[in-house]
Amino acid sequence: PDVMGVDALAEKIRKIPNFPKEGILFHDITTVLQSPEYFRLLVDLLTYRYMGQKIDVVAGLDARGFIIGAALAYQLNVGFVPIRKKGKLPYETISQTYELEYGNATVEIHTDAIQPAARVLLVDDLVATGGTMLAGVELIRKLGGNVVEACAILEFTDLDGGKKIRENHVPLFTLLQND
Ligand code: PRP
Ligand code: MG
Repeated sequence: PDVMGVDALAEKIRKIPNFPKEGILFHDITTVLQSPEYFRLLVDLLTYRYMGQKIDVVAGLDARGFIIGAALAYQLNVGFVPIRKKGKLPYETISQTYELEYGNATVEIHTDAIQPAARVLLVDDLVATGGTMLAGVELIRKLGGNVVEACAILEFTDLDGGKKIRENHVPLFTLLQND
């Protein structure tokens, strides 16, 4: 395939109307992940951005942030920390609750996962309302970590999630923006 860069990546993401419910255009990254060329392109683009930034650890958000985050951590030669949905982590945790469209959700991190003053790269697949990413930021900060950047493949700018994240003094990088 003609894999050139972010435009190719944008086209490769599969758009599914009315999933998971009426009116939502679901952006499905599995088409990127299942392609050897595009998966490599994605991980390489992010690797180039962060390889000189003295990242100590990559934290990934459950579940889709694990896929990209783990690959990126491996490339950067650092460890990977999962931020998981409530009840999944076995050791001592701290938790953060955030609002969803209906109700709320809670994510957790192991208390020994982040060292004080560690330079942390936080990764997820996309930013919609920004609630998930900000919950991740809160957990890292509570453990004394320094979020060098929050990073996602896709940002839905019309939902203002990215704006909300940046207002919380978190540098946010997204490969693609959709409005
Ligand atoms: C999706 C997506 C992001 C989050 C973005 O995850 O993977 O993590 O929503 O939405 P927000 O900016 O409004 O918080 P989801 O909670 O559906 O779970 P999954 O990653 O386990 O599929
Ligand atoms: Mg998610």
